[in-house]
Order: sequence, then C-alpha cells, then structure tokens
Amino acid sequence: MTVFGTRPEGIKMGPVVKALEHDDRFASVVVSTGQHAEMLQQVLDVFQITPDYDLKIMRPRQTLTGITIETMTKLEPIIKKELPDIILVHGDTSSAYAAALVAFYNRIAIGHVEAGLRTWDKYSPYPEEMNRQMIDDLADLYFAPTQTSAKNLTMGNHHHGITVTGNTAIDALKYTINRSYHHQVLDEIKPGNKVILLTMHRRENWGQPMEETFKAIKAVVDQRDDIDVIYPVHLNPKVQTVAQKILGNDSHFHLISPLDVVDFHNIMSKALLVMSDSGGVQEEAPALHKPVLVLRNTTERPEGVEAGTLKLIGNQYNNVVKELSLLLDDQVEYQKMSAAKNPYGDGNASERILNAIAEWANKI
Ligand code: UD1
Ligand code: UDP
Repeated sequence: MTVFGTRPEGIKMGPVVKALEHDDRFASVVVSTGQHAEMLQQVLDVFQITPDYDLKIMRPRQTLTGITIETMTKLEPIIKKELPDIILVHGDTSSAYAAALVAFYNRIAIGHVEAGLRTWDKYSPYPEEMNRQMIDDLADLYFAPTQTSAKNLTMGNHHHGITVTGNTAIDALKYTINRSYHHQVLDEIKPGNKVILLTMHRRENWGQPMEETFKAIKAVVDQRDDIDVIYPVHLNPKVQTVAQKILGNDSHFHLISPLDVVDFHNIMSKALLVMSDSGGVQEEAPALHKPVLVLRNTTERPEGVEAGTLKLIGNQYNNVVKELSLLLDDQVEYQKMSAAKNPYGDGNASERILNAIAEWANKI
C-alpha cells in the first residue's frame, strides 16, 4: 500500500506506483490522503494514477494537528480492510508521519521512501525535520537516496533494512522532460530575456522572511531589463497574500497558478537559474544543470551544496541581493554551479526500491 497526498509526495511516489503497476511480484493499493487537493490532482493526472482510496483531508488553512488526526482516523479502517504486507510512505509531511504511526499501531511493516534526510535542527524545516525522524523511528525498510542519507540513518541508530536507491525525483524527470515543450507563459517573456524560476512556501519562511526575500529579488530584477521571473505561487493563502502584495504589480514578475509537473520541469529546463525553498526542486534542478539559490538557512540536501550546484543564501535582504547579483553577473560562478554533477541518482530508484521490498518479502 502506498500512502501519499501532497504535490511533492505525488511526484516522487508516482514513479514507484507506476513501477508497482507493471511488476507481477506485487499487488498495489494506492491511498491518497488528499492533504493537497488541486495540487495533487495535477500530479495524478500526469502519471495517470487513480487512487483506490481518497481520504480527502484538506481544509482551508489546515493545522498540523488536524492533518495528523484526520489521516489517522480515516486511514485505519482502510488498513484493517486491506491488510497490506507493507505500507510505503514518502519523506516528511505530517500525513506521511500519521500514516506511519497508524501502520505501526496495526503492526504493518513500513517502508520509508526518501529516508534519512536530516538537518538535525528540530525547527528547520518545521515540522518536516521531526516528521522524518519519527517516521524513521517507526520504519522497517529505509530507501535512502544517497550515501549521506544512509549515514544519517546509522547516526540515528538505524542499522538494518537500508538500501541506497537514488531519489525517485530523478525517475520522475523521465516522465516529464520534452525537448519540444512550449508554454504560454514563455510567450510573455521579452525575446532574449533570461528567466529566473521562483518558488517559496515553507512554514518557517511565512511572514517576514518571505517578505524580505521577495523585496530583495524585486530590487535586483527591477534594475535590469533582461530578466523575467516566473513564479508559480503555492495555493496556501499565507503565501498567495504576500506574493501578490509585493510582486503582484511588477511587470518583471509573472505570478501564475501552480504548474503541473510536466510544465514545471520543462520551464525549469529552460530557465537560467532557480530560486526556491522547496525540497524537491533542490534535487531536480541539478539534474537539469540549473543553479539553485536556496532561500533557507539549512538544508537536508547537503550533497547538492557539496557538489556546488546549490547555494544556501537564506532570507536576509542584503545577502539575497548580493548572491543573486553575483550569479547574474559572474559567468565563472554561473558556469561552476551549472556544470556541477547531479548527486541525486540515475533515475532508477523505483526499481531498486521494488527489488529491496521483494528481497525483504522473500525472507519473511
Ligand atoms: C505541505 C507539507 C510540506 C511540503 C508541502 C509541499 C506538512 C506539514 N507540510 O505544506 O512538507 O513541503 O506540503 O507543497 O505536511 N492548499 C490548497 N490546495 C492545494 C494545496 C494546498 O488550497 O492543493 C492550501 C490549503 O488552504 C491548505 C494550505 O494550502 O490548508 C496548506 O497546505 P498544507 O498541506 O497544510 O501545507 P503546505 O505548506 O502545502
Ligand atoms: N512543482 C510543480 N509545480 C509547481 C511548483 C513545483 O510541479 O508549480 C514540483 C517540483 O518540480 C517538485 C515539487 O513540486 O517536484 C516540489 O514541491 P514543493 O516545493 O511544493 O514541496 P517540497 O519539495 O518542498 O516538499
């Protein structure tokens, strides 16, 4: 049984669900928590996945406690009915943690896809850092994307059931990238202009850090006439309000609805660089040779920083101005970041995950 329900979980579990569908060793049940609504549906449409169950938990301005309780209450009867041999959850959302906890209460084995990511900072990202640590405490099988994440698991005293798989985000690119792709927002870009792709949504950035970051990007971009910013704005009202207030009336900024993943990946492949506080984007952009200025103070993806393709720039106005200006003006810096090697895998993570599950199943 796979359980997922936000946009990034859908994108990274999509390839696993497709692989399960085509593999005779498994019977697959797909449960959507519905933690996201429209933003998940876009992903399900791209992968052509119809969940067997939909918990439909999303509420406007939902709370972490609400997500957790709703998921547990609605998932338990489905688990009792289907009695899966193993439940796969992904990453670090609150619904993934709730699903792992209810699986444990029902003595069902848990496989954690994208296990072992860590900042070791309880409140950054919040609440994801603790969600993933708690899922790893409950899990039986760990699908670690990199050697670094596998090492983090052993530092947390998890020594068994670990497989280094690569990240399924890279598998997803095989479904989406298309060289002859076009989107209408690209028609709005002045010919010859370069594109910055921007996303921002994290809870710890709500309010002042987000406002300061937007003002800094605006200050840099408004001084130039060769840059456009494409910003698909997360549907969270807390993000929508700030984005519209600061960037809404600026012709350099193209504020659009969230893109489906085919659009997002292809627009990223055409962009000059990416600015984002997203987790998944930090994995995909290096595979497309796009530098990422990470709008956070910590990252659980240090591999990309070490490889030189990600740079943590935080949210402080002067620093965002300085780092963005440097990347736009310094060709050597740009080449160094864009030429760095993607450390997140070869696009065959799903296959490794299924093989590890089959091997485990043969032993029980
Ligand atoms: C959640 C995850 C975060 C992940 C992010 C991916 C938790 C605690 N947070 O954060 O780890 O990085 O998803 O995007 O699990 N909304 C809609 N339609 C949608 C989706 C969201 O209207 O399709 C609005 C709703 O008002 C909702 C709000 O966004 O209440 C917040 O959604 P929520 O899932 O709680 O938080 P995210 O910031 O999306
Ligand atoms: N993404 C998308 N459309 C958008 C913005 C992002 O499909 O308009 C994809 C992106 O390619 C990545 C994922 O959504 O795979 C990241 O999701 P998000 O930033 O919401 O969450 P995080 O990865 O930070 O948990």
